Amino acid sequence: MSEIIKVSPLKKISGELAVPGDKSISHRAAILAGLSDGTCFVENFLPSEDCVNTLRAMGQLSVRYEVEKGTEDHPIDLTIHGCSGELRAPSAELDCGNSGTGMRLLAGVLAAQKFDSVLVGDASLSSRPMDRIIKPLAEMGAQFETKGIKSGCAPLHITGGKLKSITYEMPMASAQVKSAILLAGMFAPDKTTVIQPAINRDHTERLLNSFGVRVKTEGNHISIYGGQKVRSRDLVVPGDISSAAFWIVAAACVPGSRLLIKNVGLNPTRTALLNVLIRMGALIKDHVQHEDGGEPRGNIEIIGRQLKGTEIKPGEVPNLIDEVPILAVAGALAEGKMVIRNAAELRVKETDRIDTTTENLRLMGADVEEFEDGMVITGGQTLKGTVLDSHGDHRIAMAFAIAGLLAGDGNTTIKNAACVATSYPTFSQHLKEICNR
Ligand code: S3P
Repeated sequence: MSEIIKVSPLKKISGELAVPGDKSISHRAAILAGLSDGTCFVENFLPSEDCVNTLRAMGQLSVRYEVEKGTEDHPIDLTIHGCSGELRAPSAELDCGNSGTGMRLLAGVLAAQKFDSVLVGDASLSSRPMDRIIKPLAEMGAQFETKGIKSGCAPLHITGGKLKSITYEMPMASAQVKSAILLAGMFAPDKTTVIQPAINRDHTERLLNSFGVRVKTEGNHISIYGGQKVRSRDLVVPGDISSAAFWIVAAACVPGSRLLIKNVGLNPTRTALLNVLIRMGALIKDHVQHEDGGEPRGNIEIIGRQLKGTEIKPGEVPNLIDEVPILAVAGALAEGKMVIRNAAELRVKETDRIDTTTENLRLMGADVEEFEDGMVITGGQTLKGTVLDSHGDHRIAMAFAIAGLLAGDGNTTIKNAACVATSYPTFSQHLKEICNR
């Protein structure tokens, strides 16, 4: 994977594209298939560093798997032999790399095991808050010690054991926190309920149900009863709409563009980006073709137009949280103001994405006002190509590679771009294909 991405402005984006498997679903597939009572064939797993780390962690916990397509480092199709919930103590630390999802979801499972374990991550992950999962999981009975440089951060030492069921009101709309509690709740004796302040991605609920573990959602209350068996099943992971987002925005912003994204996940808790772009004036049609594992999927057609700025509604934020950097690029190119507020969660992602997005947009000549919980972009400027830094954040690297394509003049270089491998290992190849059409 190249350390640097170089792009030149492109007149329009056209053709067809299929993006790799969904990151959120791949993490959960590795965990649930690994806990299941039989053999699961998982197709179109995301062969990225984040998901491979979760798969390897399950391997260290005694789950066996074989790579059927792809390589050990980039598995695409897998046979996973579930351990019927009987994980075994790992002989070493479990390395989650850059992945908050991997660490927080695994912590939920490990909180309920009879053995101790240690979760570690890279410098970025070791500075992200883990107290948000420690609090509820400790309330359920697990013990945690954080040994990081920053308080409340990884390395995370977990002493698991018998848990009790709880009702927990989450202070933030986080799917990772909700999932950690639901996964732990599977091992607790009674009913565990998570109350979420707003709807956020519901892959854990959908996949648990499709693996035979009943999860009930009533408004913002999500409940699971312990003692249920995870039933093995085969699963095809849909393409990741958060990866598709880069191309969707690129095509939507440029009049004359026409793009078809095939076989992408269309779970409504992930498609807020499409609604916002349509409100901005884009011509976008999504067609759900079928469901697998409770996850709808299909195609998205995008026709480019001159967009207008809009205000993101508070309830939309959790359902487009990973798309904010690329949406901010769309805002800079749109006419009028783009208001992105109520998004303070962005400050605790792989980088502080309010800072890194603002910095890079300004370097390209955009007019951005930064707030504690977001940004306001006054659009209509022509972006200028320049040298930018991803700061090691995959979504910043890709969002600004696209900004470089959409720049009015000048070439753009993204430094520190190897991080795209955490979620979209074929990004540079797809970029080349799009540019050569
Ligand atoms: C994810 C949830 C989101 C998202 C992340 C993946 C998941 O994080 O930003 O990329 O798979 O559950 P939060 O739950 O912290 O909002």
